Amino acid sequence: MKINPVTVTLKNNVTITIRAAIKTDAEDLLEAGWRYLQESPYLISTVNEFNFTKQQEQAWIRSLNESDNSLLLVAIYNNRIIGTLQLSGESRSKIRHNALLGIAVRRQWQEVGLGTALIRTAVGWAKAKGILKNIWLNVHATNGLAIALYKKMGFTEAGYQKNYIRDPGGRQIDNLLMGLFLE
Ligand SMILES: CC(C)(COP(=O)(O)OP(=O)(O)OC[C@H]1O[C@@H](n2cnc3c(N)ncnc32)[C@H](O)[C@@H]1OP(=O)(O)O)[C@@H](O)C(=O)NCCC(=O)NCCS
Repeated sequence: MKINPVTVTLKNNVTITIRAAIKTDAEDLLEAGWRYLQESPYLISTVNEFNFTKQQEQAWIRSLNESDNSLLLVAIYNNRIIGTLQLSGESRSKIRHNALLGIAVRRQWQEVGLGTALIRTAVGWAKAKGILKNIWLNVHATNGLAIALYKKMGFTEAGYQKNYIRDPGGRQIDNLLMGLFLE
């Protein structure tokens, strides 16, 4: 097993499970991914660009599960995915101690500690595994809630890319690169 499932009681007193994604999650992962994009302006893909097939999603789950420096976590309530975190590890030998983190939580589950629990679980896995030394993430510089969460979890600012993002309304937004250094 990639990681032992974790049960967490959130601030709303609801207990959820965090576990590694498996092949049969593909359809629900696609549904959750589509919902995250509908609900948040802070993700890079647009809904139209998120058009993967079930087979492509299954292949993506398998590739992350088979990679020893990658992880795909899902948070489950009532058999449905309510949050997702991926660590995409680099494959080339000189940089395989680095992974890029991506995270999203369904809107009605935000601000009750689920993002915190997902990141804590992923960082715990990375430390126990011992391959990853640096975890990186990209965040809209305007995404205050996410930046507050990342700083709380120990991430620090590594640099800004000016006007990197252009939203559908034409507004230019800086990208913030953040890093967490495991040793
Ligand atoms: C960003 C996101 C992953 C955070 O997950 P979450 O489950 O909502 O976060 P948590 O409840 O664990 O923690 C939020 C932290 O942000 C801070 N926070 C909470 N409310 C806040 C607010 N209104 N404004 C600013 N910071 C806030 C606090 O530090 C809080 O931690 P605390 O409750 O221990 O004090 C989630 O809101 C989300 O998916 N948003 C939409 C997609 C997205 O932005 N993804 C990230 C792209 S980089």
